[in-house]
Amino acid sequence: MQSFSVRELSSGDTDALLAFEAHNREWFESQIDARDPAFYTSAGVAEHIERYLSDFASGIWHPFVIQDPTGRIVGRANLKAIDSAQGLAEVGYRVGQEACGKGVATLALKHLIQQARSRWALTALVAYVYPDNIGSQKVLDRCGFVPEPRWEAQQIGTERRFVLTLSAPQSAR
Ligand SMILES: CC(C)(COP(=O)(O)OP(=O)(O)OC[C@H]1O[C@@H](n2cnc3c(N)ncnc32)[C@H](O)[C@@H]1OP(=O)(O)O)[C@@H](O)C(=O)NCCC(=O)NCCS
Repeated sequence: MQSFSVRELSSGDTDALLAFEAHNREWFESQIDARDPAFYTSAGVAEHIERYLSDFASGIWHPFVIQDPTGRIVGRANLKAIDSAQGLAEVGYRVGQEACGKGVATLALKHLIQQARSRWALTALVAYVYPDNIGSQKVLDRCGFVPEPRWEAQQIGTERRFVLTLSAPQSAR
């Protein structure tokens, strides 16, 4: 795999993030819920970043971007709805169409898991995925997530819940 890297979202990312999201808009909308059209402007993305960074400061969200070796944004990943009292958060990620199939989402999800453990001391992570999103389910499976057993066939068209239980770090002897 090329050397992709994960870093925190920053307030200086407005132009790069707008370029990434606009370029991949159709691709994302083919697999996940569409964003509000107002998002796709400089002001919309700046407000989006400001909200994410404010939620990060409040300890309820941890936003990342994935970049290629040239520094171009090729994906995003977030720890969402962090609930420290419950030890729980949701994961989310999206990878630009041209960077897919190179392990970028797997790299990003592993990073989220590591942050959930080491920074937030969480005990479980959840993900919600549409049943026909095979690529995302493969990424989750590879990282140890298991599907909610009580999901019924008639729920097709709704997202299925996947869970990863995080073991406590081994204490040094
Ligand atoms: C789903 C998504 C995140 C995968 O990103 P990615 O960087 O390509 O993921 P990875 O390369 O780490 O792994 C994907 C795996 O799924 C496989 N895959 C992808 N689509 C597939 C399909 N339709 N059928 C079977 N396997 C598929 C890939 O071949 C790869 O497996 P491999 O490494 O064994 O070849 C990306 O397609 C995406 O961002 N889609 C739009 C947004 C989205 O769906 N986000 C997730 C919401 S839950």
